[in-house]
Amino acid sequence: MTTAVRDSWKSRVGFIFAALGSAVGLGSIWRFPYIVGMHGGAAFIILYLICLFAIGFPTLIAEILIGQKTQKGPAEGFQELGRSKLWKNMGFMSVITGLIISSFYSVVAGWTIGYLIQAISGSLVQFRSSSNAKLFFDQFVSSPGLILGLHFLFMAFSGFVLVSGVRKGIERGSKIMMPLLFFVLIILIVRGLMLPHSWSGVRFLFQPDWSLLTPSAFAMALGQAFFTLSLGQGTMTTYGSYLSKKEDLLKSCLPVVLLNTLLALMMGVAVFSIVFSAGLAPSSGPALIFETLPIVFSQISWGYPLSILFFSLVVLAAITSQISALEPAIAYFRDHKKWSRKKSTIITCCISAALGIPSALSFNSWSGFQIKGQNLCECISFFSVNILVPVGGMLAVLLVGWRWGVKSALEELRQGSQFFEKGSLLSQYFRIGIKFSAPLFIFLVLLDLLIS
Ligand code: TRP
Repeated sequence: MTTAVRDSWKSRVGFIFAALGSAVGLGSIWRFPYIVGMHGGAAFIILYLICLFAIGFPTLIAEILIGQKTQKGPAEGFQELGRSKLWKNMGFMSVITGLIISSFYSVVAGWTIGYLIQAISGSLVQFRSSSNAKLFFDQFVSSPGLILGLHFLFMAFSGFVLVSGVRKGIERGSKIMMPLLFFVLIILIVRGLMLPHSWSGVRFLFQPDWSLLTPSAFAMALGQAFFTLSLGQGTMTTYGSYLSKKEDLLKSCLPVVLLNTLLALMMGVAVFSIVFSAGLAPSSGPALIFETLPIVFSQISWGYPLSILFFSLVVLAAITSQISALEPAIAYFRDHKKWSRKKSTIITCCISAALGIPSALSFNSWSGFQIKGQNLCECISFFSVNILVPVGGMLAVLLVGWRWGVKSALEELRQGSQFFEKGSLLSQYFRIGIKFSAPLFIFLVLLDLLIS
């Protein structure tokens, strides 16, 4: 039934570009630096890398495998492998998580559109001091109309990309966009490291000081690892469902994980060299990249075109991630309500846009509304990234590891890849990861959050 209307990737390259487009986005560019700053620098990064490779990567393979095996989206795919309605509901929950994530994601992506416009107008190359850059950001987010407008604009762009034929083009554009992004980052890093005291930033990022680690660091590291790989909410299952069964998952996924990690670390170096040289607080939160990067743009001779290039690339990276967060809900409407792609997309975008309104207002009109010192957007992001996403990931690994059975899963993996031969190191790694370490660690993290 559903397979008749399903899209499919014509080739592995199409899948890699889409998965890369999904993973690389605000998670590594915007969120990674500020989360690292808030939770202890190098020590946190070590925790994060452990979470990424010991838990995130096996979970990524598990989620894609569910889609690839069943050729169905999360709700149906979970039901087929779990053989019960309960699993279907769990799969459905992940679709809701996607909608919540896409709502606040769009608000932050809206900021990047705002900064792109500022970059074009030349405003981002005029900062003489870090306090100016901070003031500029504070004023920028303080206008509810502007922030709401940018949020809706970004959502409209994403919807347009989803219904029009430009989507594949944009995803394939990562062939050019990725190298360009790395190029801009290298310039920012080199220039950043030439600033006085900037090396303290490098030390902060690479010399672990375990005393800086905060109690919630483990949960934050896991949440970030899952967020950046687009896990826990059906995106990867949906993308896997468009993938041929013969596809080699290792070859398609490893480049995504590695490139994304490299990008995040490079963002870290670029941002923290500026933070320490300008005497800013590493823990200044979601505003971090917006308050730091303009300082370097203002100091280099090519700052103007570079700032435009940088924010254009960030907006594009955010769009390819946003469409992947919306895709499971769209696929759900198409499969269940039998709506057209256009109708499903418009309705999904409208729901997500409405859900994003509180997040957009939480930096201005509703900024007084705080829970434990966090505004509404931060609370929604915490709840979805640190609770819903890990729960979604845990359900996927439990389904694959225990309900479907890790043996059958590995059999399936072997169909497409010679790397998973019986007894090989890699198949042990995934067997243990999917069956034991991932569910156990995620459980511990959630327990820790619950009691703290
Ligand atoms: N991974 C994306 C990023 O780093 C964000 C994202 C897209 C996402 N789809 C998702 C996060 C699904 C969690 C779940 O920017």
